[in-house]
Amino acid sequence: MKSVLITGTSKGFGYALLEEFLNEGWIVFALARNVSLFSKLSEQYKNTCVSIEADVTNENVSKLIDEIIKSRTDHLDLLINNAGNAELCFGIDNVTPMDLENHFKVHVSGVFRVIKTCLPFLIKSIEPIIVNVSSRKGSINKINSGAYRILLPYQIAKAAQNMLTVGLNQELKDTNIKVYAIQPGNLKTDVAPIDADTEPHVAAETFYQWITSENKLSTQNFYDLMNNTSLDW
Ligand SMILES: NC(=O)c1ccc[n+]([C@@H]2O[C@H](COP(=O)([O-])OP(=O)(O)OC[C@H]3O[C@@H](n4cnc5c(N)ncnc54)[C@H](OP(=O)(O)O)[C@@H]3O)[C@@H](O)[C@H]2O)c1
Repeated sequence: MKSVLITGTSKGFGYALLEEFLNEGWIVFALARNVSLFSKLSEQYKNTCVSIEADVTNENVSKLIDEIIKSRTDHLDLLINNAGNAELCFGIDNVTPMDLENHFKVHVSGVFRVIKTCLPFLIKSIEPIIVNVSSRKGSINKINSGAYRILLPYQIAKAAQNMLTVGLNQELKDTNIKVYAIQPGNLKTDVAPIDADTEPHVAAETFYQWITSENKLSTQNFYDLMNNTSLDW
């Protein structure tokens, strides 16, 4: 049975991914700050939905992930770093250094912490994959061209997360682990952009088709899931 750990499964895209992978028969380690928000799925999939109640910014998350994965399996096939925050602090006067740090803690050091913890399990899979759910707004090229309204903390954090993705691919190139950065679509979630046009469950189904297909674009690309193209980094 294939296994996946997904962060941020309490709502939005993470919840939709949780439902999709459970439907497809995977063991899902579902990490959220409040696991009661998906208790219906935990009850429906008693044997395959494994809750991890944790915050990715908290150091204790590593011990918990390690213990809970070990209690069920010795390997992990897929890690999806989906948890994300996006405070709407537009304009330099409304942004504090703490806002930058808060976003960095979730999108970069939080992602790094979860990846480091999962590596010993991923390495034991035949085709291990890490997907970092990034954003088109983390594209330095797009921001430089004036494509989007500036939202510094979120955009800086996602750009830094993209650097983590490409750096890890270099670091891990002698292993079988692949690390992808994706733009998941313009999703109708709590942090929906003004041009949101996609239901999270539609993006989750598309994600499942993509991740299980043989012919994915290489990890050199910043993958735009719903358009099946690559974005500028
Ligand atoms: N919506 C879009 O169009 C869009 C576009 C591009 C990229 N993205 C990215 O896609 C991902 C999912 O976004 P979404 O639209 O589904 O947003 P969402 O509905 O706000 O969901 C975000 C999820 O992340 C969780 N989370 C936040 N901080 C966390 C932490 N410190 N530890 C653990 N979980 C945490 C939230 O948990 P709580 O319930 O506890 O807050 C929630 O489950 C994010 O990384 C986002 O940046 C979204």
